[in-house]
Amino acid sequence: MKVEALPVIQGEHNLLNYAETYGQFDWKDAEKVFSWSETGKVNMAYEAIDRHAEGARKNKIALYYQDGTRKEKYTFKEMKELSNKAGNVLKAYGDVDKGDRVFIFMPRSPELYFTVLGAIKLGAIVGPLFEAFMEGAVRDRLQDSGAKVLVTTPELLNRVPVDELPELKHIFVVGSNVEESGKIQDFNKKFEQSSKFLEVEWVDRNDGLILHYTSGSTGKPKGVLHVHNSMIQHYQTAKWVLDLKEGDVYWCTADPGWVTGTSYGIFGPWLTGTSNVIIGGRFSPESWYKMIEEYEVTVWYSAPTAFRMLMGAGDEIVKAFNLSSLRHIVSVGEPLNPEVIRWGMKVFNLRIHDTWWMTETGAQLICNYPCMEIKPGSMGKPIPGVQAAIVDDQGQELPPYRMGNLAIKKGWPSMMHTIWNNEQKYESYFMPGDWYVSGDSAYMDEEGYFWFQGRIDDVIMTSGERVGPFEVESKLVEHPAVAEAGVIGKPDPVRGEIIKAFIALRDGYEQSDELKEEIRQFVKQGLAAHAAPREIDFRDKLPKTRSGKIMRRVLKAWELDLPTGDLSTMED
Ligand code: WTA
Repeated sequence: MKVEALPVIQGEHNLLNYAETYGQFDWKDAEKVFSWSETGKVNMAYEAIDRHAEGARKNKIALYYQDGTRKEKYTFKEMKELSNKAGNVLKAYGDVDKGDRVFIFMPRSPELYFTVLGAIKLGAIVGPLFEAFMEGAVRDRLQDSGAKVLVTTPELLNRVPVDELPELKHIFVVGSNVEESGKIQDFNKKFEQSSKFLEVEWVDRNDGLILHYTSGSTGKPKGVLHVHNSMIQHYQTAKWVLDLKEGDVYWCTADPGWVTGTSYGIFGPWLTGTSNVIIGGRFSPESWYKMIEEYEVTVWYSAPTAFRMLMGAGDEIVKAFNLSSLRHIVSVGEPLNPEVIRWGMKVFNLRIHDTWWMTETGAQLICNYPCMEIKPGSMGKPIPGVQAAIVDDQGQELPPYRMGNLAIKKGWPSMMHTIWNNEQKYESYFMPGDWYVSGDSAYMDEEGYFWFQGRIDDVIMTSGERVGPFEVESKLVEHPAVAEAGVIGKPDPVRGEIIKAFIALRDGYEQSDELKEEIRQFVKQGLAAHAAPREIDFRDKLPKTRSGKIMRRVLKAWELDLPTGDLSTMED
């Protein structure tokens, strides 16, 4: 297939000599930025905050925070002191030691960031949870991880089943006038009294840093453990892919309950000494554009679901804001529809750069970055230091254009260290040949660009043809009536499977059989006859994860009357 590529633009940390760099780059060289390349000992929070606080960036703004009621900013020096204070609270009143699990269950606020950094300074392993989790989801995660300390807010406290968590020893509540009793302590009061000096715990590069629970397409959520060593890749990709440099103001819209909100909401930007914007509360298209205007955001990392929402809100509202500060836009989480890229070119006059990675991979692996041509619909090429391939079920590499398992050669710095309490699950990710198998299905073209097709379990076999749901969904959202689409294979005695589409319409469109037929014809003519959905259902909303992924397994379960499995990561 020929796709017209969007031309190269210049980036600060450009990989214009990609071909040369690709072969020669060695992660060992990237380590030299950090003091531990000399001492052998490391601490992520030191490298992300204290290192700058002790140097030239001391008075530079590290954090701009805003939500409905608060508007604050903190320099690197202040971040150092405030995270020290939080660390002292956890140590003195929570008895936190190296390796202990400290869970954070609260909405985005400066205290959340002080606490995450403070816990890391003690060598603890941080477990961030989405504020929207209900009791069952909180219990599963705290139990599985054996969390010792939880930091939460008064509003969320009643979703913590304290009696069922014998290993949980201390609960810090962030709020004013918290009533202390049993395990419950007033965080703010202790924070006020704590010293701003703290001895950082120096750990080994493979000591635990963060535990992200993620649910795969089936089964219970699993705890993906990352270690301090990941910083090499967070740092390097923040430069190459996010293109962060000294004067940037960076906004990552993700919550730290999701890996994007830690790897690139905390570590990447701060390891590079960048000013980081964090916005709490609910978002609307107006408030999003307003934040970009107000903070003069230059680099913006978000997700396709958000871009589609903004696209749906129309082009007029974009014009009501001055977004001229923006120079680089990046996306992650699910495939970025070509339609969205075209829209981005129109309204921002910028390319949106897709990046592919996973909770398990810890950092970006296959990306579009400033100095490369973008083929809309492709997730780009592996970054230097990363080797990717499409392999069959035996681990044999497949030639260009053959659909198969997207696999990565083991050995990139931010790879997960293990699955908590489940070594067997961890082992199951690997295939002969040292391949990490992602569970995604994709193909590669002859220029080495990768094209996402779906999760392996989502790929549809219809009348002997393999169809990736993403391609069909992308065509569907090009139709003016379609806001969002989710596509599944539905078992069929004749065709193996047929393609069934669930569609949420844009405002102003009425459901009708004529519209269904029109949409079907649109896919038939624009993509392929065999790819046109035989069945279409209209829904007001599609089931999505909190990170914005359409949950095809839920659509499938609804359709086939099967159990839906774990729904804790589904948005309200
Ligand atoms: C999907 C996200 C297509 C994919 C940081 C992957 C993507 C899963 C992309 C990981 C992309 C993520 N194009 N699909 N650019 N990025 N995905 O763990 O199926 O929330 O395996 O991590 O999201 O999701 P996770």
